[in-house]
Amino acid sequence: MEKTFQNSNIKNLLFKNRILRSATHEGMGDQDGRPKKELEELYVCLAKGGVGGIITGIVGVQENGRALKNMNMITDDFIADYKRMTDRVHEHGVPIIMQLVHAGRQTNRETIHGERPMAPSAIRDKMYYRSKPKKMNHDEIYEVINNFATAIERAKKAGFDGIQLHCAHGFLLSQFLSPHMNRRKDRWGGNIKNRFRIIAEIIRAAKKRTGDFPILVKINGYDHRPKGMRVDQAVKISQLLEQEGCDGIEVSCGVMEDGFCTIRTDHIPVDLVMETALNIKRVNHRVKWLIAPLVNIFIKKRAPVYSYNVSAARQIKKSVTIPVIAVGGIRDLEGIKEIINSNGADYVSMARPFIIEPDIVNKFSTGLSTSSKCISCAFCFLKSQDSSLRCYHKNIVKKSGEQDLRKIRSDKKSVYS
Ligand SMILES: Cc1cc2nc3c(=O)[nH]c(=O)nc-3n(C[C@H](O)[C@H](O)[C@H](O)COP(=O)(O)O)c2cc1C
Repeated sequence: MEKTFQNSNIKNLLFKNRILRSATHEGMGDQDGRPKKELEELYVCLAKGGVGGIITGIVGVQENGRALKNMNMITDDFIADYKRMTDRVHEHGVPIIMQLVHAGRQTNRETIHGERPMAPSAIRDKMYYRSKPKKMNHDEIYEVINNFATAIERAKKAGFDGIQLHCAHGFLLSQFLSPHMNRRKDRWGGNIKNRFRIIAEIIRAAKKRTGDFPILVKINGYDHRPKGMRVDQAVKISQLLEQEGCDGIEVSCGVMEDGFCTIRTDHIPVDLVMETALNIKRVNHRVKWLIAPLVNIFIKKRAPVYSYNVSAARQIKKSVTIPVIAVGGIRDLEGIKEIINSNGADYVSMARPFIIEPDIVNKFSTGLSTSSKCISCAFCFLKSQDSSLRCYHKNIVKKSGEQDLRKIRSDKKSVYS
């Protein structure tokens, strides 16, 4: 039976379809991380557009764990702002889940008020190489656990329907999970159980304070790092998550220093990378001109570009009974139905398609369209570090012409295996 547009539940939450908005950093926080009015409008627009559920962009749990200056934070002061937002989203019968993050080594001193970034081990990130992280001590680890639990309490007070722990993409919790980034020999590193311990402790602390408030987790199926996270480990971590009472697992991949692995593209936008990438943007323009041809060599393009985490999600789904969500390059209705009906995942989520068409699910459900207009250019991602989230599709059409665009779109191939 076709399940995509039927009601379903994650724990006690009701979803009217199985197409979710994956966490997408909106760049709509003021300098303190208070959500701006435009963020509220964006979520209402998504809710009206028929999405099954919304996962917010990253929200920070503590100042020295900020990933970006324009991201949102969750403090007691902001609860009323978030509550207004969740009330308005709920008018449309759509659950909204707050994604919580600590950046770990994926940040720089400038963003965290001159402090040194923290990480499980003092291993420099290629993308943030100027800010070598310091190895966290036990007190710092317990402070992070406590801050996540406090943030979860606040999210509940603010009317969110649940939270998602960001344990993917190379942020702090993902650093603990990956043997590449976590070289500790104490109780927080080494075997899988130890690397998972910080997440287990966060979930336990949260459950003590918030009862059965839904907790979802986003993990990497693999991270492409030498001796890093691989699917067999992600499967074991998923089983540990289920044992701890996690309510749903979203499966993604990649880390920031691996360029366009998480957010894949057919064509690396070299000019924009030169303009926005942290390592390069401050470099003298003559040097930039010299290194431009190297961007294509050093920044790896990962393939496939469509439905690239379904295979990992499918393996995880086989080993747990909680719902699994697949994200990454999912673009067309036929593919979505196939993923769900063939048990590739219980839900799919998308990020970029909702930027160009916030009402894409209504279009799918009414037959107005069967495929996203998104060409996966990744401009939205590069630009969102210092401006509000928007789609740059029109700019690309202007620059490259309809001819090229048609070629890009005709290359769209889905991999559902
Ligand atoms: C502009 C932008 C911002 C993103 N911000 C987040 C984020 O805050 N948290 C997160 O887990 N993933 C984030 N992602 C990754 C997406 O959730 C998703 O995993 C990835 O884009 C692949 O899905 P897509 O092909 O549907 O865009 C972001 C992606 C984009 C394009």
